[in-house]
Amino acid sequence: MKGIVLAGGLGTRLLPLTKVTNKHLLPVYNKPMIYYPIETLVDAGIREILIVTGGNSAGDFLRLLGNGKQFGLNHLNYTYQEGEGGIADALRLAEFFCEQQPIVVILGDNIIEGSIRKAVDAFREQDSGSKILLKKVDDPERFGVAEVRDGKIIGIEEKPAKPKTHLAVTGIYMYDSTVFEIIKTLKPSGRGELEITDVNNDYIRKGRMTFEMLDGWWTDAGTFESLYRANCLAAEKQNRQK
Ligand code: DAU
Repeated sequence: MKGIVLAGGLGTRLLPLTKVTNKHLLPVYNKPMIYYPIETLVDAGIREILIVTGGNSAGDFLRLLGNGKQFGLNHLNYTYQEGEGGIADALRLAEFFCEQQPIVVILGDNIIEGSIRKAVDAFREQDSGSKILLKKVDDPERFGVAEVRDGKIIGIEEKPAKPKTHLAVTGIYMYDSTVFEIIKTLKPSGRGELEITDVNNDYIRKGRMTFEMLDGWWTDAGTFESLYRANCLAAEKQNRQK
């Protein structure tokens, strides 16, 4: 199984912090933001990782991460997304790297308290289709929101004005290699992006998606409020571990 960290986009919701640097290089407590999703993948036993970067300061990723020695890796792979074509557009760039293997994709601004090891192991057994991780939140309108019936996801709405549930789709996705065929069929959404929610709904329509609830806290860090929250949660966790 291979891992992909999506760290492209322009981070415009964090301007002026992102005017001269990349959102994923900003600090979250005592580490750059990008450390957290890489650590999540490494903890799940994934050794082959591709970073999709983009926007400002892309060269700084190489200066910061090198070959990933600080994560116990021998090698890291990089590619560059031009513009801000959406999460599925960034994932499209990983096709060359995946070589028909199943993948775990994590958004570069997603930070979790616990581990995804058990879910990744379950997906290794599942072997094909996809698996996503859901989390109950108080502000579902900020996320992809899943509707679940009889233990199955029946649909996902992207940032609905009136969410049907409180189940946010976290930015951690597991896919078989058909994901790249699905991405080729996508059309840009109203906000001009190739949406990962459209990819997920395709798997759901075909009955090829499973889900698990994510244990522990989860946050993104793409707005001032969520970046602040991410800092507080990360500090609390690390101080608890000391
Ligand atoms: O955090 C989880 C949420 O992430 C999901 O619930 C939503 O369904 C999903 O659409 C996404 O929502 P956001 O609007 O918060 O995504 P955002 O545009 O902030 O992008 C999140 C990360 O994805 C970003 O840190 C890097 C990567 N990305 C994003 C875009 C738009 C790219 O690599 N390239 C891109 O073009």
